[in-house]
Amino acid sequence: MKTATAPIRLRDYRAPAFTIDTVLLDFKLDPVATHLTATLSIRPNSAEAVLGRLELVGDETVLKSVSLDGALLAPGRYHATPSLLVIEDVPDTVFTLTIETIIDPSANTKLMGLYRTSGNYCTQCEAEGFRRITYFLDRPDVLAVYTTRIEARKSEAPILLANGNPGESGDIPGTDRHFAVWHDPFPKPSYLFAMVAGDLGVITDSFTTMSGREVELRIYCEHGKEGRCTYAMDALKRSMRWDETAFGREYDLDIFIIVAVSDFNMGAMENKGLNVFNDKYVLADPDTATDADYANVEGVIAHEYFHNWTGNRITCRDWFQLCLKEGLTVFRDQEFSSDMRSRPVKRIADVRTLQARQFPEDGGPLAHPVRPEIYHEISNFYTPTVYEKGAEVVRMLKTILGPDGFRAGMDLYFDRHDGDAATIEDFLAAFADATGADLEQFALWYAQAGTPQIVAKGQYDANARVYKLTLAQSVPSTPGQLVKKPMHTPIRFGLIGPNGADIAFDEVSGARVEGDVLHLTEASQTVVFGGVGARPVPSLLRGFSAPVRLAIDISAEDLLFQARTDSDPFNRWQAVQTLAMRNLVTGSGDVAAGRSPTVEPALVAALEGILSDETLEPAFRAQTLQMPSEADVAREIGHDVDPDAIAAARKRLRLAVCEGLGNTLFVRYGLLSGGGQFTPDARSAGRRALRNTLLDLMVAGGSRAAITAALDHFETADNMTDRLGALSTLAHAALPERQRALDAFHDRYRDDPLVLDKWLTLEASVPADETLDRIKLLLHHPSFAIGNPNRVRALVGSFAGANQTQFNRPDGAGYDFLADFVLDLDRRNPQTAARLLVSFRSWRALEAGRRARAENALKRIAARDGLSPDTLDIVTRTLA
Ligand code: ARG
Ligand code: ZN
Repeated sequence: MKTATAPIRLRDYRAPAFTIDTVLLDFKLDPVATHLTATLSIRPNSAEAVLGRLELVGDETVLKSVSLDGALLAPGRYHATPSLLVIEDVPDTVFTLTIETIIDPSANTKLMGLYRTSGNYCTQCEAEGFRRITYFLDRPDVLAVYTTRIEARKSEAPILLANGNPGESGDIPGTDRHFAVWHDPFPKPSYLFAMVAGDLGVITDSFTTMSGREVELRIYCEHGKEGRCTYAMDALKRSMRWDETAFGREYDLDIFIIVAVSDFNMGAMENKGLNVFNDKYVLADPDTATDADYANVEGVIAHEYFHNWTGNRITCRDWFQLCLKEGLTVFRDQEFSSDMRSRPVKRIADVRTLQARQFPEDGGPLAHPVRPEIYHEISNFYTPTVYEKGAEVVRMLKTILGPDGFRAGMDLYFDRHDGDAATIEDFLAAFADATGADLEQFALWYAQAGTPQIVAKGQYDANARVYKLTLAQSVPSTPGQLVKKPMHTPIRFGLIGPNGADIAFDEVSGARVEGDVLHLTEASQTVVFGGVGARPVPSLLRGFSAPVRLAIDISAEDLLFQARTDSDPFNRWQAVQTLAMRNLVTGSGDVAAGRSPTVEPALVAALEGILSDETLEPAFRAQTLQMPSEADVAREIGHDVDPDAIAAARKRLRLAVCEGLGNTLFVRYGLLSGGGQFTPDARSAGRRALRNTLLDLMVAGGSRAAITAALDHFETADNMTDRLGALSTLAHAALPERQRALDAFHDRYRDDPLVLDKWLTLEASVPADETLDRIKLLLHHPSFAIGNPNRVRALVGSFAGANQTQFNRPDGAGYDFLADFVLDLDRRNPQTAARLLVSFRSWRALEAGRRARAENALKRIAARDGLSPDTLDIVTRTLA
């Protein structure tokens, strides 16, 4: 086994021994030998300096020279390795250090630091990429003012960009080179540094801020794709306006730039004034982007823009505080999208993502608190827990404090900490101080990992007109945390009366209840409602007011009633999901035991009711008709999972639903046809979502008429949502008709890598025995490139993450394939390799045969010499 480096612990945090006030970077760009001169103004941090010894970190960094206050240092005065530069005897006052490094951007396949993408230069520094550019105090609590000078051959890089406002620029006489200087007046940590240079297309616009300042807006992309940037520009302007009205936050530089690049490890990056994006979150037009793509572009553009205040103006003291910027900024982008689109539909989509991505993390070997306390490799902590659960914690804070209290707390936080590198304690103190609330118990949400379980039981006494609700909470053990305390959990609720409206109650005891929020704070509480005139159906956790698992003793009839009447749309959706989930769990057991599963009539009735309720928006009806996924069911079952039995039960259920709804499906599908000219707005998208969902259910019935309708839908589509909707139905049903359609789709988009990712994803998602061989073949297809993270995620990530039956083949070939691929990719791009490996996180929940095969594959990875720290960390924790 490998020896890992010592872990980093939150409790060991020390303020830096030195601080850096200004940074001057002078890049002379070259594809294989870029020269950088970094001039740093450094000051000892009086209390902390360890007597004149300065340590700067690097990572594969190549040093050319180092000077102190203008004098070149002789080799004996410093010690340099690729990961460390130590200078003894530095002055005890301000001094200037000048470091020359040489960088080979073309050899950088990790996509961290300075690298090449489509012939252009770009940087990615979060979390620890800046040290790959120069030796530095590369930690978020060292804030400096940056000036960047870039020099390059004009023909190679006509565009030269860096953070801040543009300064001097021009040609270098007598050469084929030119230069540009950028200055960012806002002190920032090194992870927010960015530089981009190359030959790029651009669209421009402008925005007038609330105080009347004019801001220039630019979006850069590959030449020829400018037309696909207009939606992103529109989303940017809406984001800028929304942050002013919703949070009082105004933009602060003279210019805001977004650059779309095609090789990027993550979604996007909020570098000050110069956001760099994975192009899949910028480019959109009707022929190439689905409605979901449009929504993602809008959300990610907003997310990165909102970081300007939550992340940049106020940054993190250390990487343990990552959720301070990420959880909060996800919450902000979710709220923005809710205001732009439909709030209930957005909430359901976000909860589905949380349950699909965060719940399995929280319930498996990789579980960690929203604010972790230990890490080996910080790149592995850009997780659903930090991001999505982090956002849920902020949402609960708002639920507990109310909108006004929440806004007062945010205002105080911005006021107090502008310019700071802050902590979660600082964040919570702002809310406590602004409102007088006691948030001590609530703070456990940041410290305790694991999804809390809430068991609810209701009892009505007609004579006493009393309704008793018992709520018990427990938090499961997680790695490193065996015993947990009860948490302060806001439960939004209503008691639904016989006519479908919420019943009034006159007194409550046993819990603090404010409006429709019940504060659960003890391990178990019995809440007694007095003056309740009839037996209510409890509607708990409305709007999913806390990221918990709720187990409630409620009959199918009551769920059907709730699905028809609940005033909370989220819980109408939830009631149907609960009915479906019960059917699927029982059905999976039936299949595994060789019995044939039966379908609860209440479920078909609930679906019928939602489908034909014209007062409900189409997007909501579409979400309700989409049954829990195979992975959802596996998670619910939780142990000895047999993916084949689940898939069979789900197939059987969808067939029964199709038969149960009968001709209604075809009639409604027909009524939704012909929407006119494509527009990407939420209303039109909702119609398309419903129509595609109906088509998918029709095909689940297997009739020739339905398959013909799907082929027709595919061929006549005038936008990507419909084209891909039909294709995905054909692929997911593994119909023989799929291959011709997939090939036609490939040929139509053969020159468009982002669209081909959709094709790779569908190829990898086909639930058929031959899929693994097909994937192995596609690894050598000209449209695939192992160097591009989007291609890798589309083909291999979709297979391991979304194809339950084939990744979990009983013979273990899916696991072996992923292990081999991860080992190969790890030598080139450890971050993306480690991310793929996370697909094994639920291996212990599998039935014994698959469990043993998954364990073998993991052990084979762990035994390999020379693993990256990223992959070593994931494999070690997954096996622990
Ligand atoms: N801060 C970025 C965001 O907005 C994520 C960048 C993380 N990048 C990385 N390579 N770890 O979510
Ligand atoms: Zn972010």
